[in-house]
Amino acid sequence: MRIDIITIFPGMFAPLEQSILKRAAEKKLLEIKLWDLRDFTQDKHRKVDDTAYGGGKGMVFRCEPVFNAVSRAKNENPCGKVIITSPQGSLFTQEAAKKFSREQGLIIICGHYEGIDERVFSIVDYEVSIGDYVLTGGELPAMVITDCVARLIPGVLPKEASVDDSFNGCLLDWPCYTKPEVFNGLRVPEILLSGNHKKIAEWRCKQAEERTRKKRPDLYKKYLKEKS
Ligand code: ADE
Repeated sequence: MRIDIITIFPGMFAPLEQSILKRAAEKKLLEIKLWDLRDFTQDKHRKVDDTAYGGGKGMVFRCEPVFNAVSRAKNENPCGKVIITSPQGSLFTQEAAKKFSREQGLIIICGHYEGIDERVFSIVDYEVSIGDYVLTGGELPAMVITDCVARLIPGVLPKEASVDDSFNGCLLDWPCYTKPEVFNGLRVPEILLSGNHKKIAEWRCKQAEERTRKKRPDLYKKYLKEKS
């Protein structure tokens, strides 16, 4: 998959060059291209924003650089669905990540300032928020979206590794343990040492239900409804 990211802070995206995403790029499963929005301005100050019509304190992203940047990105990523990050967008969930991972490409515009000229939305497919809080800009949301989507691209993770993720279905993950058997007096549950795979699977299922009920009653309610 190809993901183009349009931003005024291309220097913020170093985390995408590490770890699993780095390997995905090496395996040619993922190509990320950063576009500096200021490269699409015409004036000598490389101004991407301006004051709001009608007045008000905040600055607004101008149409021209955004339209030009998306157009250039589309030349190289013609099937890319255009996403804009904004706290007003629809909530980014695992379901949304799965849907985006089935696209051939994505073009993510990192929103900023008080707002974006409303006409930009005429070239946007999805307005996406990563949660009900306000960040200083769309760079972190763009990284969150990219990371979640990338790990779902076939071949990026080992086979089936994402199948039991929390949020697949409605249950959180069950608890897991590794060596040693006892640490600071804390023991690994006996059942996991039993070698009885049927019993272990039942225990894990029960644990996943129990921790979902405790930690996320909202998800548990959904789980019970889907189960019945
Ligand atoms: N920009 C600022 N806050 C945001 C959020 N929560 N999600 C997406 N974009 C944002």
